[in-house]
Amino acid sequence: MGSKMMARAAIFLYLLSLAAAMRTGGVSMIGQAEIDVRKFGAKADGRSDDSQIIVNAWNKACTSPSPSTVVISKGSYLAGPLKFQGPCKADVNLKVEGAVKAPADLNKFKSQGSWVLFQNIDGLTLSGGGSFDGQGAAAWKENNCAQTGKCNSLPTNLQFTSINNSHVQDITSLNSKLFHVELLNCNNVTLQHVTIDAPEDSLNTDGIHVGRSTGVNIIGADIRTGDDCVSLGDGSQQVHIEGVTCGPGHGISVGSLGKYHDEQPVVGVTVRNCTLTNTMNGIRVKTWPNSPSGVASGMHFEDITVNNVSTPILIDQNYCPYNNCQQKIPSKVKISDVSFRNIRGTSATPLAVKLVCSRGVPCQKVELADINLRYNGRNGTATSQCENVKPTIAGKLSLPICAGPRS
Ligand SMILES: *[C@@H]1O[C@H](CO)[C@@H](O)[C@H](O)[C@H]1NC(C)=O
Ligand SMILES: *[C@@H]1O[C@H](CO)[C@@H](O)[C@H](O)[C@H]1NC(C)=O
Ligand SMILES: *[C@@H]1O[C@H](CO)[C@@H](O)[C@H](O)[C@H]1NC(C)=O
Ligand SMILES: *[C@@H]1O[C@H](CO)[C@@H](O)[C@H](O)[C@H]1NC(C)=O
Ligand SMILES: *[C@@H]1O[C@H](CO)[C@@H](O)[C@H](O)[C@H]1NC(C)=O
Repeated sequence: MGSKMMARAAIFLYLLSLAAAMRTGGVSMIGQAEIDVRKFGAKADGRSDDSQIIVNAWNKACTSPSPSTVVISKGSYLAGPLKFQGPCKADVNLKVEGAVKAPADLNKFKSQGSWVLFQNIDGLTLSGGGSFDGQGAAAWKENNCAQTGKCNSLPTNLQFTSINNSHVQDITSLNSKLFHVELLNCNNVTLQHVTIDAPEDSLNTDGIHVGRSTGVNIIGADIRTGDDCVSLGDGSQQVHIEGVTCGPGHGISVGSLGKYHDEQPVVGVTVRNCTLTNTMNGIRVKTWPNSPSGVASGMHFEDITVNNVSTPILIDQNYCPYNNCQQKIPSKVKISDVSFRNIRGTSATPLAVKLVCSRGVPCQKVELADINLRYNGRNGTATSQCENVKPTIAGKLSLPICAGPRS
């Protein structure tokens, strides 16, 4: 064998061994270390508690100096609460192909306010097409939010706290005990093709809640749940929502704002090309009466289709769901620079557009353009209500808005 041929043979053998390594899952296509939790000892029988194995696999990946992947392969895993803690030494990809189930027993959640917690990570990817089932049915009965006004005692399905430059894709959240997905203190996080499913009567099961975060993109989510499909709490900045379908649910909301002191401004929200069907509201901005001062500005809603939605366009600065507010004292959350453009479809009640701004700090720079909403009841006539707001009206309108023109 000549030296040239020997070199070729060596390269051939090297490629063969590389291919073998790929098949065994030791190395992924792009050369990342891959840890399959089943090879790590997870039972994946849906009954044995796989929490410790999954967290051990995460910790191994997180301490790896090069990017790595943890795979929760097809199967049913009982696990939680789970804490995926960073910072990690390099990017970590958590690929969930299987079905992860939460314990139904609430006593398991004393240590942590959420079921699956991702914390303090830069460069996380969560993907894989799998699901997280919060098994919430038993917990919904114990939700006493309506009586106490306190709703944070049950665990959130997927909690992202202090997560930067990360991506969540093709993940399903089912039957969460409280919120499905919550982002707090995050920067530059994209959620793409997230599916959320819980019954219409499940209490406080917000689909995706964002708070105190900057640069959040929610693209192409499909959300059916018992509360807001998407809610943006205080400190939500540069949030972009696009291609979301919602219903059943309470719609897409900014707020509620003004319940607590030290709330941060909501600035820069765009909601585009979304479809809401049989929801309680369409697009809503809600603030509590008798609030500390606050700010919500730069919020733009366009190309929204509503099908049988109770109040398609709503600004409500008297938001008081449990009727224990000092309604006489106005909200001090200042709402400005808001637009609703190309909103079309059917309203389930005659009052399709309700803009009730604060007497204390009237809304400013509100624009409505091309509003084509019909009441799907007897005579099809939709109406609007406006308080403490003088919106700019443009384009074609199917109903009079704040006594504006009608085409
Ligand atoms: C995320 O970004 C913030 C702001 O830049 C920074 O303070 C924080 O340390 C970062 N967190 C991680 C885990 O990298
Ligand atoms: C945002 O995060 C993505 C990863 O999801 C990353 O590729 C991108 O560079 C980040 N953008 C900035 C401005 O850091
Ligand atoms: C609008 O959103 C839907 C999902 O509801 C998506 O299929 C469609 O491609 C989007 N259209 C545009 C123009 O982005
Ligand atoms: C329209 O919405 C109302 C109230 O939410 C509901 O009772 C009714 O069944 C819906 N109609 C259709 C056709 O879905
Ligand atoms: C349509 O119905 C509403 C109540 O649903 C009523 O106030 C209004 O007068 C009706 N308009 C016409 C033209 O019948």
